[in-house]
Amino acid sequence: MSGTQPPPASSRTSEEGAGWTRGTPGSFEELLPAKVPAFSWRRPGVLWRSRNDVLARLFGDPSDAIRRRCVEALAERGAPAAFTVHRPATEFSFLLMGDTGEGDRSQYAVVPPLLKAGAGTDFLVIASDVIYPTGDAGDYPAKFFRPYRDYPGPIFAVPGNHDWYDGLRGFLRVFCDLAADCAPPPWRGPLGLVPRLLWRRPGEVDEGALAAARAEHRGAPGQQASLPGPYWAIDTPALRIIGIDTGITGGIDRDQGRWLREVSAGPKAKLLVTGKPLRVDDEVRPGPIEGGGTVDEIVRDPAHHYVAAIGGDIHNYQRYPVPVGEGPGARVVHYVVAGGGGAFMHATHTIPRTGVVPEDRFRCYPLRGDSLSRYSKLYGRVTRLPKVFELTPEEATVAVRHRLGIEPARGYDERIAPSRRALFVAAVLGVPRGDRKRPRLLRLPVRRMPQRFRSELADWDRPPFFKNFLRLDVTERELRIRCLGVTGWAEHEADPPCEDDVTIPLR
Ligand SMILES: [Fe+2]
Repeated sequence: MSGTQPPPASSRTSEEGAGWTRGTPGSFEELLPAKVPAFSWRRPGVLWRSRNDVLARLFGDPSDAIRRRCVEALAERGAPAAFTVHRPATEFSFLLMGDTGEGDRSQYAVVPPLLKAGAGTDFLVIASDVIYPTGDAGDYPAKFFRPYRDYPGPIFAVPGNHDWYDGLRGFLRVFCDLAADCAPPPWRGPLGLVPRLLWRRPGEVDEGALAAARAEHRGAPGQQASLPGPYWAIDTPALRIIGIDTGITGGIDRDQGRWLREVSAGPKAKLLVTGKPLRVDDEVRPGPIEGGGTVDEIVRDPAHHYVAAIGGDIHNYQRYPVPVGEGPGARVVHYVVAGGGGAFMHATHTIPRTGVVPEDRFRCYPLRGDSLSRYSKLYGRVTRLPKVFELTPEEATVAVRHRLGIEPARGYDERIAPSRRALFVAAVLGVPRGDRKRPRLLRLPVRRMPQRFRSELADWDRPPFFKNFLRLDVTERELRIRCLGVTGWAEHEADPPCEDDVTIPLR
């Protein structure tokens, strides 16, 4: 990652940079376990294990009540009320990625470029969904300790909805060193009988297996660290990094809300890390706080000096630089989605021409044309109609340009008109017209289908993977955020394609 060399090709400059050109298989192949577990969301056992998601949506999200018990247990153990870790270095670097843990090829493909581009970083943050499908402690050896055994620094995390399907027990055991079951179902009365009966209790924690996995894979002294709780702050001289726990459905409890207001006060620059992004797919999702107010109100308040809010949950990269405030207090908050750390890919071609920020300031990875091309190939394979569905990256990009009315980042000859077939495929695979949120044509499932059916289709195990992670470099004066792309080819492992690069003043 030398600053003196010209930047390597990226998806924004060439098909080769996007990983469409066949290269040498990446070295991640050598890191894979002898048997890569077949991960399927359609297995009845996985569906049954994930039932807490359905219960939380039907009967109310119990995360707030469970979290309160966890926090009480942590406080009894002596966790500081501010839930803050202090790090003295003014200049430091860290990595951030979201939605990692399926334990499969797409997770391992991220590891070699992560280690290369992350050389010299001080720590790694995982933003949501550390472990799929249900956050169990028993899955941590294969989906956390083993994949990241060679990252020499500590790893911190905020939980995502999937980590909560275990009542957060695995997460608390690994990241907070808390061995407690905080999760008796909180529903009361006769109406609560159904969710009380059906709620999946956390799996037993095999302490011996966890300790052995930690000792075998991440046992070095420099890799050890514990978080004060499921929400936390890492305070440094120039920047305070604040991680929040957004439970299953995206809200936070009133105690966490009060804590968030307290740690957000003061003139120091702040960076929010959340399990649910506040701007995503050209929508504002402010994040309700129990008892009133939203997370986004706290982020936008000029007195709090937030410079960025980064969330996982959606498995791609998006950045919206949003101007907030007026007069001398006016500034820009960068709202980032960074959920491409290992699990299946969410489409970007369904994002309309943006209104949250003007389209020319919006960034995403994969580019919409690449996303459409990838999905068109999947549909060609699944329907066995490749001649109907498959679009080359160029055909897909031209169709996206036509339907959205945007200038795609990777320029192809502007005189090329899209074919009727390409426009049809773009429409049925969900490319909206202009800034309309939904296309008129009946769409095939790409985004709005339940994850358990969609992900099966969207989880491929060959390059280009279109995964991503962030490298963040902090100095006294500025924060630099780079989005590095992961294709899965060896050619892109040593110097991964830089898909976005923004430097934000901290004062
Ligand atoms: Fe996820």
